[in-house]
Amino acid sequence: MQGIADELRSKGKRIGLVPTMGYLHQGHLSLVDEAKRHSDVVIMSIYVNPTQFGRGEDFDKYPRDLARDEEMASQKSVNYLFVPSDKEMYRDEHLAYVEVEKVSSLLEGEFRPGHFKGVASVVAKLFNIVKPHAAVFGQKDAQQAFIIKKMVEDLNFDVQIIVAPIVREPDGLAMSSRNVYLSPSQREQATVLYKSLRLAEKLVAGGEKDLVRSRAEMVKMITDSSDGKIDYVSFVDPKNFTKIESAKDLDEVQSLLAVRFGKTRLIDNMLLKTGKR
Ligand code: PAF
Repeated sequence: MQGIADELRSKGKRIGLVPTMGYLHQGHLSLVDEAKRHSDVVIMSIYVNPTQFGRGEDFDKYPRDLARDEEMASQKSVNYLFVPSDKEMYRDEHLAYVEVEKVSSLLEGEFRPGHFKGVASVVAKLFNIVKPHAAVFGQKDAQQAFIIKKMVEDLNFDVQIIVAPIVREPDGLAMSSRNVYLSPSQREQATVLYKSLRLAEKLVAGGEKDLVRSRAEMVKMITDSSDGKIDYVSFVDPKNFTKIESAKDLDEVQSLLAVRFGKTRLIDNMLLKTGKR
């Protein structure tokens, strides 16, 4: 892969990377479209990275279907698929990791300790292997996107990070490879995530500054209309990804949530414009 990347670069081609864990859906394909807008050659990586899964998480049963992914990627005219094995990515004694402090330990980090260390490390490896000029990540993993941007900025990676909008099902559920785990009833209930974000959007746009109150309304909506177990419903300042309880003096706030339906954990988020009151 490094040899191919060197050759492409020597021909003056701009490389766009779309890192994925496979089991592709329309959300991933929208990242390919975005990569095409910023590059001449699109390389998609498919790798279910073990170091970003905690003990007891779904690494073993994470959905995998390489033949289907290959077909979808070829229909989308992805130029190269990079599908490394665990042995190629992690030698027997792998000791070097990348950590983005502070922001990695809140929200997702509170519930998935070590997750972002695994993500940042594998993305750094992919950047060194694929040598992209630009890399595209989905806004659905907003905290991941923030952390990768921070890593790139702080460690001077020479790559442009592009964050592409969330792609939703017609009823609002954010597309995710994990949606296949949901039973029909859970799938129906899961629409409450988007509805609760829209509720927050309406409240904040209407001039509500007290985010504790908005959060309480969201939690009420989720618990009243589903069996979902909330890991967190939270607001951050999108500029620095710190938790906030007031929207005062901010033009935008970001609402993020993680809710479990049975064993399936879903995340979603929305950037909200604040209104005057
Ligand atoms: O978002 C994902 O699919 C993964 O976290 C990533 C960025 C491919 C790293 O394994």
